[in-house]
Amino acid sequence: MFNRIRKIILLLALCMLAGCGAKEEPQQGPELVLGFSQLGTESAWRSGNSADIEKKAEECGIGLMFENANRKQENQIAAIRRFIAYHVDVIAFSPIVEEGWDNVLSEAKEAGIPVILVDRDISTRKADLISCHIGADFYQEGVMAGEYLIRKADALEMESVKIVEITGTEDSTPMRQRQAGFMDTIAEDERMEIIESVNGDFLKSRGAECMRYLMEKYGDSIDAVYSHNDEMTLGAIPEIEKAGAVPGQDMIIISIDGGQEAIDVLKQGKINCVVECTPMLGQELMDAAKKLEAGEEVDRVIHPEEKYFSDEMDLSGLAPRGY
Ligand code: AHR
Repeated sequence: MFNRIRKIILLLALCMLAGCGAKEEPQQGPELVLGFSQLGTESAWRSGNSADIEKKAEECGIGLMFENANRKQENQIAAIRRFIAYHVDVIAFSPIVEEGWDNVLSEAKEAGIPVILVDRDISTRKADLISCHIGADFYQEGVMAGEYLIRKADALEMESVKIVEITGTEDSTPMRQRQAGFMDTIAEDERMEIIESVNGDFLKSRGAECMRYLMEKYGDSIDAVYSHNDEMTLGAIPEIEKAGAVPGQDMIIISIDGGQEAIDVLKQGKINCVVECTPMLGQELMDAAKKLEAGEEVDRVIHPEEKYFSDEMDLSGLAPRGY
């Protein structure tokens, strides 16, 4: 009886979210309902990630309650509480920052609802609040970026490399890990020096602001720009040009994500290397949600395979990126 009432409530909630008219109301609800809190729409990566999750949920016949938190942690916490109140079968979310989730996740655990982290990780001493984490190995992305810079400096026979770093959202996993992987890698090379690290919050407008400031302060003494995502890189490039420098030639430009726009700019020679971070996590998420609902074991951490694209490669045959 409880299960039937629960399914009806979920069905109504799904209909409200999807904007169904009364005439179109389906008679039978999906077997599995997944509540997903997306952190925002700050980048092409994020939009690609949301679209992929919606597509895969539909293909798998999973009812998706999708909520966008507009880059506010309190909105994500409120969304998770709503999912608990609706008794969804599985909760998933992409945490904007790492800290501050223990209370709401303890509530999900008490309600017996498994939780999956998508894309970013959280910092907690209570490992059992989470069933699994599906997302990129951000540390390895930073390593790939650092390794590329060392190779490029070798190829150009550079004696010193002055680097500026434009980081992503403070206290987020990609910001912390991409920085750590890069720093650890270049630390082995005496030529490398980070002259300043500024926060661009993963936004194109902030990437532009940061680069304007850096160009005014350091001008052409900058040898390399390490930007934590494509969005900020695409904001930074016009600022380098406005200041009279040639991105990709006067300065080595390294980005992360691998969206179509950045790949096109790489092919034009204005970016030197783009490390891939795939947003296509939907299928893994649906598979894990189904297993958890069925009471099966899932891997604690699932990292997609990722590569990099650079001016060392022939990219003419590269398939459209899809984000
Ligand atoms: O968490 C993944 C990062 O978030 C992507 O690199 C970035 O583009 C997005 O905003």
